[in-house]
Amino acid sequence: MITIQDQRREERAAQFKQLTESSRCKPMGRLLRKFWQPVALGESVEVGGAIALLIMGEELTLYRGDSGALHLVGGRCAHRRTLLHTGWVVGEEIRCIYHGWQFDGKGACVKRPAEANNGMPRTQIPAYPVKEYMGLVFAYMGEGEAPEFDLPRKLLLERDGTLVANGRERWDNNWFQQVENSLDAVHVSFVHMALTVGPFGKAVTDAIPDLSYEETTAGIRQIAQRSATNVRVSDWTFPNNNHVTVPGLTPDDPWIDVFVWMIPNDEKNTTRFMIYGQQPGASEASRTRFKEYFAKYGKYDPAEHHDELFASRVWNNPEDAFVGLTAAQDYLSIRGQAQITSREDEILGRSDLGIVTLRKLFWRELELQEAGQATKSWQSLDGALHLPEQPGQEALA
Ligand code: FES
Ligand SMILES: [Fe+2]
Repeated sequence: MITIQDQRREERAAQFKQLTESSRCKPMGRLLRKFWQPVALGESVEVGGAIALLIMGEELTLYRGDSGALHLVGGRCAHRRTLLHTGWVVGEEIRCIYHGWQFDGKGACVKRPAEANNGMPRTQIPAYPVKEYMGLVFAYMGEGEAPEFDLPRKLLLERDGTLVANGRERWDNNWFQQVENSLDAVHVSFVHMALTVGPFGKAVTDAIPDLSYEETTAGIRQIAQRSATNVRVSDWTFPNNNHVTVPGLTPDDPWIDVFVWMIPNDEKNTTRFMIYGQQPGASEASRTRFKEYFAKYGKYDPAEHHDELFASRVWNNPEDAFVGLTAAQDYLSIRGQAQITSREDEILGRSDLGIVTLRKLFWRELELQEAGQATKSWQSLDGALHLPEQPGQEALA
C-alpha cells in the first residue's frame, strides 16, 4: 500500500532531482547555460590538436587552430556521427577522420570532398564561443548572445605579480552535492580532521562555527565564526564557483586564494577546475615554493584513488598534506554520499543553514526561469575582493 509518506517522499525526490539534471532540455541545464562555464584546461590542447569533452551531457570537440585560437564545436560529425576530435585540424577548421567532411569554428560544414557539391554551409554542428582565462577555457553554451565575461573574472588575481596555478579533478558524482559542500562550513570541523590533520585543518580547527549567510550581487557570502579570532569568510558565486582561502605551504607563506568551479559532465560525473593564486608581495622563496609545489602536486585527483580511499581510508600521497589531503578528505565525504545522493531521505538541522539557503536560491531562480520571468542578473563583486588571510582577520572589501 502506498502511504501519504511514500507519496510525499516521491514528490520531494522529484523536486530534488531538478537540482541534479544539467542537460539542455532540463530547467537546471537551461539555467547553467546562462553563464560562461569552464570546460577544459588551456594546456590540454596544443596548436593543431583536438580533444573530446563531455559538458552538461553534450559531447564536444575542443581544438586549437594553427593561429593558436581555440574553437569549440559539437563532438560528432554531421555525416555519420563519428567523433570529430580523431580527425585533423586544418588551419582553423577540423576535418573528420571518416570521409573528410570539414567544419569551421562556427560549426558550418565547409567541405565534403566525396560529394559533387562539396560544401554544405547550412549543415551545422553546434559551436560555442570560448575564452581562455587564467589557464582555463570557458565556453558560453546558452541561447543567444554570450553575456559579458564578468562573473568568471577574478580581479584579485589580475594584479601584476600574482602567481596562479591550475588544478583539475574529475569526480564521479553529481555536481550539485559538490556545490552544496561549498556552503557547508561545518564539514571543515570533521572532514578535514580525518585521515590526518593538515595545515588547513589546523588553521580552521575543529570548533563548531556559528554560521551566517548573506546573498550578494554575485552569490552567497558565508561567514563561519569559530571564536572571536577565528572567522572564516568565503564567497560563493552563482551558480557553481567558490572562493576560499587556505594556509600557505609553510607558516612563512601568504595564504592562497582558491577558486573552484564544479561543472557537470553528466548526471554522475563532475569536473572541478581550480585556480590557485598567490598574491603579489610574497618573498622569492615563497614564490618558488608555490610554483614548484603546484607543478608537482597541483593535479592530484582523489577520484583516481577511489578504491584505496574507500577500502581503507588510505590517503596515498603523504608528502602532500595540502591539496592532495584536502581533496581526498572532501572526496571521501562527498563521493560517499553516492553518485547522486537521496536528499529525500536526509534529516537536516540548524547547521545545514547554508544548504537550505543554497537550495532556496536555486529554486527561486528555476521558478522564475520556468515562469518565463527574468532571473537575477548576477554581477561580480566590486573590485579586487580580499578574503581574510588568516582566521581572525576581517574581510577587506
Ligand atoms: S562520418 Fe564524418 S565524414 Fe563521414
Ligand atoms: Fe572541504
